[in-house]
Amino acid sequence: MPSLCVVGMQWGDEGKGKLIDYLAAQADVVVRYAGGSNAGHTVVVNGEKTVLHLLPSGILHEQCLCVVGNGVVVDPGELLEEIALVESRGATVGDNLLISDRAQVVMPYHKVLDKVLEEAKGAGKLGTTLRGIGPCYADKASRTGIRMIELVRPDAFKARLEATLPAVNRLLEQVYGHEALSLDDILAEYGGHGERLRRFVGDSVTALHRAFAAGKKVLFEGAQGSMLDIDFGTYPFLTSSNASVCGVPAGTGVPPRLVGSVLGVVKAYTTRVGAGPFPTELHGDLGDRLREDGGEFGATTGRPRRCGWLDAVALRYALAINGTDRLAITKLDVLDGQPTLKVCTAYRHGKRVYDTFPSDLAVLEGCEPQYEELAGWQRDTSKAQHIEDLPAVTLAYLNRIEELLGVPIGIVSVGNERRQTILVEGDGLFR
Ligand code: GDP
Ligand code: IMO
Ligand code: MG
Repeated sequence: MPSLCVVGMQWGDEGKGKLIDYLAAQADVVVRYAGGSNAGHTVVVNGEKTVLHLLPSGILHEQCLCVVGNGVVVDPGELLEEIALVESRGATVGDNLLISDRAQVVMPYHKVLDKVLEEAKGAGKLGTTLRGIGPCYADKASRTGIRMIELVRPDAFKARLEATLPAVNRLLEQVYGHEALSLDDILAEYGGHGERLRRFVGDSVTALHRAFAAGKKVLFEGAQGSMLDIDFGTYPFLTSSNASVCGVPAGTGVPPRLVGSVLGVVKAYTTRVGAGPFPTELHGDLGDRLREDGGEFGATTGRPRRCGWLDAVALRYALAINGTDRLAITKLDVLDGQPTLKVCTAYRHGKRVYDTFPSDLAVLEGCEPQYEELAGWQRDTSKAQHIEDLPAVTLAYLNRIEELLGVPIGIVSVGNERRQTILVEGDGLFR
């Protein structure tokens, strides 16, 4: 029963989608366990780019069963659009897609609430993706959410909506001065979505247990990044789910002992979208250059990503939380043009030096990163197919990352194409 969890070690957009698509060639099942359409996972095959938000990134592989786990919050309209998109690319979506009957539904009012809550925060806004994620998870925790099993049963859906909408409308009208939403409109729109999605909705927990019992290879797909995890990230500047591997058992019903190994995806530098502390952020030309060279614009919202150097302090923390077995270093090619590179090894705040990740936002915001400088290579790495093809200076950079982080590298990615992937340690990835 081999399995592998692919999870982001930074603030998201590490290149998880690319790697999951690559690894899905060897997998029988790919399962998303958290987040919603806030995720934007880019897969590029022979020049054709597909951005996935809700469908697992194994969807372009016919043999893969793609499971949207119970921990995911599903926007049914977005999911239907995405199904149509991948079908237009030649993929089949039928029995290979299973959406958990226990997954929560992102309702129209969750998206409205996301917007009005952000507006109400003024300068303190989080910069959410406005996909209704926070309000949907809040309803789940308040036990006022609506699940997929109800969405696909018209009577149950109507009953749940009649129970929840009046209070939501009072909040919208009386607190936020927003117009009320119409029950009939939601019933008509979402009723149609439920009808079209019914064939995909089922008992994902049993399906996953059966897959494990049958010895199938299972790939868990992380969304967001560990530093955006609701419990371990830079609270409150993060998302509303357990993006780290901690989200797997709760978000799939697969017990922790069946999560065989963890591949931590690390971009060769750091990016972040939205507000919140970012100790190694580069302002000015260097940051702009990384953004341009790396095409660092959000896959979901198109917003420019904030860019900075690799941060070994934050990474060591993320690796520990996830029990990461192997690293996947992505976007190495983006550093090709840099004369020198920096890696942050500690934070200095006042007289104190931190080599572990602090919880105090004031420390994170006011700290001075302590850097180690490394030589750049100024050679094209994007055509390398084997690790030996990389310049010696590039290998020295990778070795230093392994040393600083204490975890071996399993994969190096040198371009956005599926084939631009170097498998360093293939055998031990699924365990
Ligand atoms: P995800 O959210 O972790 O799946 O990452 P995104 O898809 O949001 O962002 C990663 C971006 O980098 C996408 O545009 C990918 O196509 C691209 N990408 C992934 N790996 C590489 C790589 O090794 N090199 C380059 N140049 N681009 C990459
Ligand atoms: P993938 O899976 C990068 C960020 C948002 C915002 C914060 C909260 O593509 O790596 P939310 O809409 O979740 O309430 O927003 O989290 N964020 C991401 N940043 N990649 C993502 O996903 C993200 N999903 C959410 O920008 O700062
Ligand atoms: Mg992304």
